[in-house]
Amino acid sequence: MKAMTYRQYGGPDVVTLAEVAKPSPKPNEVLIRILATTVTSGDYRARSLDLPAGFGLIGRLVFGIAGPRQPILGTELAGIVEAVGSDVVNFNPGDEVIAFPGGAYGSHAEYRTMPEAGTIAHKPANLSFEEAASLSFGSMTALPFLRDKARIKAGESVLVVGASGAVGTAAVQIARHFGAEVTGVTSTPNVGLVASLGAHRVIDYTKTDFATTGETWDIIIDTTGTVPFVRCDRSLKAGGRLVAIQASFGQTLGIGKPSKVSGKEVIAGYVPARPEDIRYIAKLASQGVLKPVVDRIYPLEQAAKAHAYVDTGRKRGSVVLTVAASLDEIRSNRVGAALAVGHPGSTLART
Ligand SMILES: NC(=O)c1ccc[n+]([C@@H]2O[C@H](COP(=O)([O-])OP(=O)(O)OC[C@H]3O[C@@H](n4cnc5c(N)ncnc54)[C@H](OP(=O)(O)O)[C@@H]3O)[C@@H](O)[C@H]2O)c1
Repeated sequence: MKAMTYRQYGGPDVVTLAEVAKPSPKPNEVLIRILATTVTSGDYRARSLDLPAGFGLIGRLVFGIAGPRQPILGTELAGIVEAVGSDVVNFNPGDEVIAFPGGAYGSHAEYRTMPEAGTIAHKPANLSFEEAASLSFGSMTALPFLRDKARIKAGESVLVVGASGAVGTAAVQIARHFGAEVTGVTSTPNVGLVASLGAHRVIDYTKTDFATTGETWDIIIDTTGTVPFVRCDRSLKAGGRLVAIQASFGQTLGIGKPSKVSGKEVIAGYVPARPEDIRYIAKLASQGVLKPVVDRIYPLEQAAKAHAYVDTGRKRGSVVLTVAASLDEIRSNRVGAALAVGHPGSTLART
């Protein structure tokens, strides 16, 4: 099968097209024909080894000391089940699915297997494959950080810094879903997008620094690494939580965290990818509560171009890769609103 692979760490050009063995499902696994996947900040991190401060050595231990251990990037996908192992009961050939291999990567290819009990769910019927592929990376981060770690409650106020990225667009919508009063922080071109996702208010950081407004929030979720506790201490209410999504190693260890007496908290680190969460996210999307934001779409073979765009740090929501031959074949043989390019509600823009 075709896959985009990288054999050394570096810039976008280390990603090249290769022919690799097609996987076959074990008894408990599902074989997915991938129709769409994404290039995320997670792919950027694994490809470049440009990691938050202090994570250099850990990054090599995780991704491979001398070079990448997993040569195929891609944390999330949408596709069609091609075959199932003998023990699989919840999926059948022909089922449309989304999956989130997350840190196991391997989605920038024509096929991938997933354990039936893993982070795989039926695809929301109201989403195109491109939209569905964009659903999980941001949401599978924002949901557990907000719900489990920050213990978000209805009526609380939440500030999302970096509200236009993959994690930020999900955080705005999920916080809103949990009944929070949401403020997004973004730059001028993205103000309309963040408002359209349900933010009650949007702060344009090129005009206003939230930290100097005198306002306070219960939760500040920072996806940009620009908000250490010292910068937002006075912007947090009593009992407030800073969720540092892009935390340095020091922050993760608790350096610079507030004293117990302050009643404030810094939350950083890792969140587990739970199978029940991807099903929950798919349900929210099918109800129209969670809308994937698709920025640009590239054919799989142009993954290096997609990486170069992601590297700018300016993408809005997700950058999609399509397995064009498979999508064209599916679309020419099947009818269905879910398969239509430019599905209503999407922000699709073909490159
Ligand atoms: N801890 C975890 O488990 C975990 C999981 C996933 C991701 N992450 C990390 O979280 C970070 C964000 O990931 P992502 O996928 O959301 O990134 P992304 O999609 O690449 O974020 C791009 C967005 O960030 C915005 N941005 C950049 N600088 C900003 C600033 N100073 N203020 C406000 N917005 C700013 C940009 O908007 P403008 O153009 O308007 O500035 C752009 O829309 C990455 O560092 C990633 O490694 C951590």
